[in-house]
Amino acid sequence: MKASAIANANIALVKYWGKRNKELMLPQTGSVSMTTEGLQAHTTVEFSPDYTEDILIVNDREYRKGEEEYDDYVGLFLKVVRDMAGNDMKCKIVSRNNFPTAAGLASSAAGFAALATAVNEALGMGLDERQLSILARRGSGSATRSIHAGFVEWKRGEAEDGSDSYAEQLFQPGHWPELRMVIAVTSKKDKKIKSRAGMSQSVATSPYYSIWANDIVPKHIETIKKALAEKDFRTLGETAELNAIAMHTVAMATVPPIMYWNAGTIEIMHAVMDWRDEGLQCYFTIDGGPQVKVMCLEKDAEEIANRLKQFENIEDVMTTRPGQGASVTDEHLF
Ligand code: PMV
Repeated sequence: MKASAIANANIALVKYWGKRNKELMLPQTGSVSMTTEGLQAHTTVEFSPDYTEDILIVNDREYRKGEEEYDDYVGLFLKVVRDMAGNDMKCKIVSRNNFPTAAGLASSAAGFAALATAVNEALGMGLDERQLSILARRGSGSATRSIHAGFVEWKRGEAEDGSDSYAEQLFQPGHWPELRMVIAVTSKKDKKIKSRAGMSQSVATSPYYSIWANDIVPKHIETIKKALAEKDFRTLGETAELNAIAMHTVAMATVPPIMYWNAGTIEIMHAVMDWRDEGLQCYFTIDGGPQVKVMCLEKDAEEIANRLKQFENIEDVMTTRPGQGASVTDEHLF
């Protein structure tokens, strides 16, 4: 009853920001993302009668019952798993990311997609990809998308039980292999406001929330899907950039305000806009943290990475492309 899985982070082109059901993790809107290559979580889980309580070790740090990271995230997820599998056994989970955790690089998406995949294997649950996407959703909304490779849509769904809120692949990574995201890490510190708390507060208090959910996101989903189908980089970039700005506007107008940007974030946003005016094709997107992801095509990726490395505030620059979905691996971490 031991299994391991790897999964990659995904970067949203149309963001998920807000739930309609917190327990079932049902979103207010759909969303669209690109699964990355190489921003990876590797997770091993073992269920055994020898464990008297759950053990969770992420990036060599142990988390225990009573700590928020355990209770509100993995603890809740394991309860869902145990109810589904009809199995009470305790488990040990060891997970490692090769990128900064909890700083707006969708570490929870990669982590829960890997954990759901590993748990399905370890307990012989026999879930198909759709059911796996639904299970991953219960750990972290965005994890539902990291189950799949390439370009992915998470459908909002209508059902109260969440049975129609899962992710589906729109296109394989090979559909648009030239697309790149150059990630500028402006801070490796943990973010102060987790997405879960932030989005819940936005739904409750942001004056722009209903415009976001009812007007902006449905239009952006259609535009982005068409741009992906046609490999129309300009429309993709313009729309994804506008979508990110709209999400952060909703967040900033939340009470109390949610401000994920730091000085480096703003500096890069201006630089990307200036570079575009000079003729370099690039657009930015930002998730629930200060990092900036610059969308571009392969031909310009190196130039953009080199330019980003010149900034004083930048701690790291990584380039990623459309990548693989979650999969089981024989490599165990313990
Ligand atoms: O899945 P969560 O709860 O970590 O939320 C992710 C929210 C954003 O990254 C900001 C947007 C998204 O769609 O990934």
